[in-house]
Amino acid sequence: MTRNTPPTETQLDTLRSWLEDSRRITVLTGAGMSTESGIPDFRSENGIWQDEALLGAMTDHHLREDPEDFWPKYKRTFLAPEYLRAEPNAGHRALARLEQLGKRVTVITQNVDGLHQLAGSSDVLEVHGSARIARCPRCGSEYGLDHILASDIPRCTWEDQKGAVCGRILHPDTVLFGQPIRHYEKSLYAIHACDLLLIVGTSLTVEPVASLPHFADHAATRIVLINLDETPFDPHADLLIHAKAGEVLARCVPQSA
Ligand code: APR
Repeated sequence: MTRNTPPTETQLDTLRSWLEDSRRITVLTGAGMSTESGIPDFRSENGIWQDEALLGAMTDHHLREDPEDFWPKYKRTFLAPEYLRAEPNAGHRALARLEQLGKRVTVITQNVDGLHQLAGSSDVLEVHGSARIARCPRCGSEYGLDHILASDIPRCTWEDQKGAVCGRILHPDTVLFGQPIRHYEKSLYAIHACDLLLIVGTSLTVEPVASLPHFADHAATRIVLINLDETPFDPHADLLIHAKAGEVLARCVPQSA
């Protein structure tokens, strides 16, 4: 259920003071971080998974069984032209600004859009990979967006000494259902070592990321959850704000030191 309850001044003042007091901040973000940039999330009313044909196709099994059907659906899911035009929003920029204010910040993101890095965050763990990269499953050659978008079904163009082209259909770097996530140990450490954990724009429904916040050391870490909808983790948050991430973060992170 979407709540979108405007935050109280008390809530905002609490977040401001916790941000000021913190030295090591870990941020766990999901698709709700990018909706204010024009990229829909997955499970809200107008979410991407409303198209069940896409949801059913974004699996490791379908990529291997029917790559020619997989790739057009993958591009509709993660590489639609309007998504590729998306810019970081005020929330991404506020998180990047925390580093300029001298905070040690690690962003653990489930998003594959690259907007945290584009906003200037320097320590980003893309636990679900990146939509901007694809690799050849046979020779391991890596390709960027230009190559991925140049054809309907991107293939490897590597040539051997005799000039024979590899030609295999590429696999996206994005972590598909049925594949292991990336940076799990680093994420665990970042969650356990921080004194402030911000959980922003995620339904916390997909494992193993959904369980990561439970590894925070409640005695030493303040936990803030900023999400429009309720999540299973709501009862565990020290500060719970059901409002828009970009608006809240922009109001709580100072514009400059
Ligand atoms: N501000 C705050 N919260 C928002 C905003 C916003 N502007 N917009 C949406 N939200 C919230 C929604 O209420 C929702 O609970 O963000 C959450 C997004 O949840 P999901 O759509 O489930 O996205 P996410 O949690 O990132 O999904 C995790 O599931 O399908 C996989 O690989 C996909 O990485 C994704 C993973």
